[in-house]
Amino acid sequence: MTGPVLAVDQGTSGTKALVVCPERGVIGSGTAPVRPRHLPGGRVEVAPGELLASVLDAGRAALADAGEPVAAVGLANQGETVLAWDPETGEPLTDALVWQDRRADDLCAELTEHADELKALTGLPLDPYFAAPKMAWIRRHLTRHGVVTTSDAWLTHRLTGAFVTDAATAGRTQLLDLDSAAWSPRALDVFGLGAERLPRVVDAAERVGTTTAFGGDVPLTGLLVDQQAALLAQDVTEPGSAKCTYGTGAFLLAQTGTRPRRGDSGLVACVAWRLGGRSSYCLDGQVYTAASAVRWLTDIGVIGGPKDIDPIGSAVPDTGGVTFVPALAGLAAPWWRGDLRGSLTGLGLDTTAGHLVRALCEGVAAQVAELADAVTADLGEPLRSLRVDGGLTRSDLLMQTQADLLQLPVEVSALPDVTALGVGAVARLGLDPSLTLRDVVPDWRPAAVYEPRIGADEAAARREAFRAQVAVLTDRTPS
Ligand code: G3P
Repeated sequence: MTGPVLAVDQGTSGTKALVVCPERGVIGSGTAPVRPRHLPGGRVEVAPGELLASVLDAGRAALADAGEPVAAVGLANQGETVLAWDPETGEPLTDALVWQDRRADDLCAELTEHADELKALTGLPLDPYFAAPKMAWIRRHLTRHGVVTTSDAWLTHRLTGAFVTDAATAGRTQLLDLDSAAWSPRALDVFGLGAERLPRVVDAAERVGTTTAFGGDVPLTGLLVDQQAALLAQDVTEPGSAKCTYGTGAFLLAQTGTRPRRGDSGLVACVAWRLGGRSSYCLDGQVYTAASAVRWLTDIGVIGGPKDIDPIGSAVPDTGGVTFVPALAGLAAPWWRGDLRGSLTGLGLDTTAGHLVRALCEGVAAQVAELADAVTADLGEPLRSLRVDGGLTRSDLLMQTQADLLQLPVEVSALPDVTALGVGAVARLGLDPSLTLRDVVPDWRPAAVYEPRIGADEAAARREAFRAQVAVLTDRTPS
């Protein structure tokens, strides 16, 4: 018996908090919005104070909903979002550059000669998505004062005074040696960050300090980057299985076991989590804009919001020849062309909002299918199914399109908010070291399973149409 824990998922577009009880499940929940600013030049930033306020608001709302105290807190974070801050006062010195921010493109271009070395050292390709290029950009252009870290280190410092980051978040910086899960002096040197004061790299389930932010002195015992938290909660704990989370972006992660496995297919090799000093690893592929692309379609007035995807998209039988490459913040794995922007082709006088919605679903699903192919190539065996979670899994149209293009069953998790559940699970481990991973991973079951409804030939043709448009973009804009 370890008592309830407060599990907080600090995401790009909002913070979700759950109070999770080992015996009674979720007994309280709270949310708070976060509004990143989308600026010209591929810049995406957010006020750090908004991130902290959302953690406090969502956490306190969940506690009020549960009506009982918690024994520990866990915090999941959005990964590659960085800021500079004063370690004495905790005050931010810059806005937070969100993971989607592309302003370090030129800085990465300057470092191209080091790309292979960095990939071998850290498992990550050179791309402004990761934290280190943004950290280096902040040092060059914004401030030389204070520390520059991922947002989890700042939030944890504000909550507890500790200066730490978990091994999986550190693995998203491009500064962590993948084999030793320790900071790499060479990678730091390449980015000109050799003199930085860096947070201590901790296990996911470690008592890093106590916070009074949620009533009394409560230990913070779980820290894990959001995608890896979802991987754990989806029980993708055995090598060869995979999950995809459809949030602001879509992220497909496959578990690869306790030895780092660097792929040849353009995926990222990364720490899944470090527990008891022992790391397990994953391969990871990203679609930079999923719900972000839906938001864009909403902002330009085509639909009223995500709830319209199914009714509007289902009003037509197909995309009507429209192809949408929703690379609104560039393309990640396996192309790594963050400089590209999206394209809409095949428009006619008869094109309707329904065709655009279907083309958007097809564009996201086709990218996820490329990532699944890359996993299959790297692991040397096909996936048997894909476990999925996240807000957009509520769309029948997107999930059916995904199953069709993958030619695999798509299993939608019955557990809402798996990211929070994942970090809640590690917080329980950190609270009670006598527990094992198996004791805390939530029981997994699907709420729905989507089977492919089209044949392999049609799936191949539709995927080829998408690839052809990606090829047009990449040919038109040489890297
Ligand atoms: O890599 C960024 C990712 O972890 C953000 O996740 O849920 O905020 O879209 P989310």
